[in-house]
Amino acid sequence: MTLTSDDYFSLPADLHPQALPAHVAVIMDGNGRWATRQGLPRVAGHRQGAKTVKDLLRCCNDWGIGALTVYAFSTENWRRPMEEVNFLMRLFDRLLRRELAEMQQEGVRIQFLGDLSPLPERLRSLMAEAMALTRPNQRVQFNVAVNYGGREELVNAARNLAHQVMSGTISLDGIDEAALGRALLTEGLSDPDLLIRTSGEQRLSNFLPWQLAYTELYFTDQLWPEFDRAAFHQALHWYQSRQRRFGGLARSPIAHGF
Ligand code: IPE
Ligand code: IPE
Ligand code: MG
Repeated sequence: MTLTSDDYFSLPADLHPQALPAHVAVIMDGNGRWATRQGLPRVAGHRQGAKTVKDLLRCCNDWGIGALTVYAFSTENWRRPMEEVNFLMRLFDRLLRRELAEMQQEGVRIQFLGDLSPLPERLRSLMAEAMALTRPNQRVQFNVAVNYGGREELVNAARNLAHQVMSGTISLDGIDEAALGRALLTEGLSDPDLLIRTSGEQRLSNFLPWQLAYTELYFTDQLWPEFDRAAFHQALHWYQSRQRRFGGLARSPIAHGF
């Protein structure tokens, strides 16, 4: 059976449109291993991984998923060889230049999460421009975590709140979950409903430790460059089989009468 273009773009029939995650977060892992397996240099994996993320964003747009947050570069990734770090910075630059117009056309609002100050000046101004240009867009919120570290984010939030207390803007009792949430980089964004990590690793690697407190965690052995629509479909299908209780009790579909 060949897929018609309609099949490719529309939500698969076995997924319930009303039970989709509103926000999907992704740890895009396994680019290097994918390249090595093909006998290619690691950076070829990053290039291929960039295509995967582009298609995933489009897929979210097609299937009605309103927010996608991807981990592109961690505060720990500076430990990699300089050539790989430089390649990644150039790749972000090139992608942003090449894709911005299309993202704008497709109603994508882009935001970068992380400490952008150590990034190359040209990339930083490109990022600022992309955020400003796409700010009014409402179809898909696309967050890209670059030089992001969850612990650093929490330390900065603590400092920020302490400063507010010292200056009298808030009282000590004013520090609650909502205030801390507002002091994070993800201020104003809902917490992810689903986290996907590829490549078989089952850890968070310092990604969104506060925001993932009640997120459903999906791990797959597939490497990031191979994560296509079919793989995403599978992850969403798994998500829809989960029962999210948030500490309460399961809602039974059947009344038992006791
Ligand atoms: C993820 O793939 C991309 C980044 C961290 C930038 P990796 O580069 O970590 O790939 P592996 O884990 O070495 O295979
Ligand atoms: C996490 O992947 C960071 C990104 C995907 C950007 P890593 O490959 O850096 O994580 P570890 O080192 O295996 O934990
Ligand atoms: Mg990795």
